[in-house]
Amino acid sequence: MTDNQTDLIERFSAKYQHGQTELCQEIELNVFGCVYGATSWTNRVEADNVAKKFGLRPDTRLLDVGAGTGWPSIYWAEQTGCKSVCIDLPQEGLQVLRARAEKDGVSNNVITACANGAALPFGHGGFDAVFHSDVFC
Ligand SMILES: C[S@@+](CC[C@H](N)C(=O)[O-])C[C@H]1O[C@@H](n2cnc3c(N)ncnc32)[C@H](O)[C@@H]1O
Repeated sequence: MTDNQTDLIERFSAKYQHGQTELCQEIELNVFGCVYGATSWTNRVEADNVAKKFGLRPDTRLLDVGAGTGWPSIYWAEQTGCKSVCIDLPQEGLQVLRARAEKDGVSNNVITACANGAALPFGHGGFDAVFHSDVFC
């Protein structure tokens, strides 16, 4: 693992813990219109627009790179029935993601993997759409 990846994991692991506090959740609700522990700037209206542009539906296979705590893949799974593979490097976010997917009844739609978006461990043609929000930051 590179120093950059180690830094990234430390930085986002802390963010994903803070994101579970009452204060952060209240801020997120007021700014985004929903609470998923998000660390991007993708709000609910934008997520709805992306879902429409992608044409998400139950047979859509989506790859969410840098999925964090699962926003907006969990929301899309619940709204459209689509299936997502959510990858990220910090385990903290993926643990929150799995718990939320279970709570929302979409754990069969949302699979997580600890994987590097710069070296995807998937073959060609496995997904209908690829999404990321604020991953290049
Ligand atoms: C700003 S957060 C966005 C998280 C989530 N998509 C959201 O909208 O709340 C960016 C995420 O990208 C992840 N990330 C950055 N570089 C990555 C890489 N090379 N492979 C996988 N994940 C990466 C970070 O760990 C972080 O969880």
